[in-house]
Amino acid sequence: MSKLRVGVAGLGTVGGGLLKLFADERSRLHEKMEVVAVSARDRGRSRVADVSAYRWFADPAEMAAQADIDVVVELIGGADGPAKAAVETALRRGAHVVTANKALVATHGVELAALAEASGAKLLFEAAVGGGVPMVKALKESVAGCRAGAVAGILNGTCNFILTEMESTGRSFDDVLKDAQKMGYAEADPTTDVGGFDAAHKLAILCAIAFGTRPDLAHVRIEGIERVTLTDIRLAGKLGFRIKLIARGASTDGGVEMHVRPALLAFDHPLANIGGSLNALVVDAEPVGQLTFIGRGAGEGPTASSVASDLMDLAEDRASFAFGKPLARLADAPRAAPTERGRYYLRFMVGDRPGVVAAISERLAHEEISIESFLQMPVHEGPAVPIVLTTQTCARAAVERAVKAIEALEVVVEPPYVMPVEPSARAFRPS
Ligand code: HSE
Repeated sequence: MSKLRVGVAGLGTVGGGLLKLFADERSRLHEKMEVVAVSARDRGRSRVADVSAYRWFADPAEMAAQADIDVVVELIGGADGPAKAAVETALRRGAHVVTANKALVATHGVELAALAEASGAKLLFEAAVGGGVPMVKALKESVAGCRAGAVAGILNGTCNFILTEMESTGRSFDDVLKDAQKMGYAEADPTTDVGGFDAAHKLAILCAIAFGTRPDLAHVRIEGIERVTLTDIRLAGKLGFRIKLIARGASTDGGVEMHVRPALLAFDHPLANIGGSLNALVVDAEPVGQLTFIGRGAGEGPTASSVASDLMDLAEDRASFAFGKPLARLADAPRAAPTERGRYYLRFMVGDRPGVVAAISERLAHEEISIESFLQMPVHEGPAVPIVLTTQTCARAAVERAVKAIEALEVVVEPPYVMPVEPSARAFRPS
């Protein structure tokens, strides 16, 4: 059988890693396929791999249009622009596409999958979610015959690194963010990571596959880690929790709920001990139960290995539909009504005066919110002191009302902060 002919668009970290893998005699890639062309803006820039043997295209769409290229690997990034143009060009003419571009797939996945179905091409994106961790395949293949109830994961290595370092070293958010950028995991604009958008792209893709719906990025509720302070991390720790940016999708009676937000996890939660830049995903499906996938979520080797895995699926003719099913069989994701219930962590910065605790608990009681744990400790520098508490299970709407009333108290010096407590492993599905 003739070898698949591959064109690689984008020769940054992941592109370089992929070319190294092609050059590695121990990898099976070279038995099944060969790189025939590459595309990057600057031919002269030094790179990790020797690219002089390949045809060169400055314009990735021009490379994608070449009739002798069977597969275009898109590693440029960005939801629009050259990446989209190259992918569309390839799919229109029936060439397969393998991409690591989560923004592109989350934003334009439906139209791209339609182009692929029309031409008979495959669109594969294991590398777009979780770096080297096989999250897309787990959902598309391993639990394909199950009913997925919920997925929850740590999908952004930069945020996980920042929160882990803050906890273990006591350094500030801004200080640790600089290190994360140096490590090469962070997106070009750090807001994409710390604002939760990168994780939201990944969650929208995973939920589409898990729940058999069209990707629905617009309805992921997104909150970043910018407001998490060292005080939160220390006091949550004293209450038995660790703070993580959690991406969570759940199939409920009313539809699909998707959130990316910082949350408190009990120390024995399966995601609580995923540290540094690692990624992880817990899938809860019937009848298999809970499955947990853990590994390196970004960087040259892990992401290139996911690209290679998709390429092997193409070479061995086992690639399936982009989102696991033909588009016609994907439902529009019905939106759940905002009836969220759960346990919540509340942090108030207050003037240290008699009666403050009584005033706060009175307003919580007014909304029938019962306090589960409560802590005031002098760990904060400055005129205000933190009071933190966790609630028993209650309606989010009641928490919002109580917090608004508490914020109006003259003694409260900055906007209160609310984070959910992630359900325990046993109660992983929404209550
Ligand atoms: N910026 C991403 C992260 C890289 O920090 O996880 C992988 O998508």
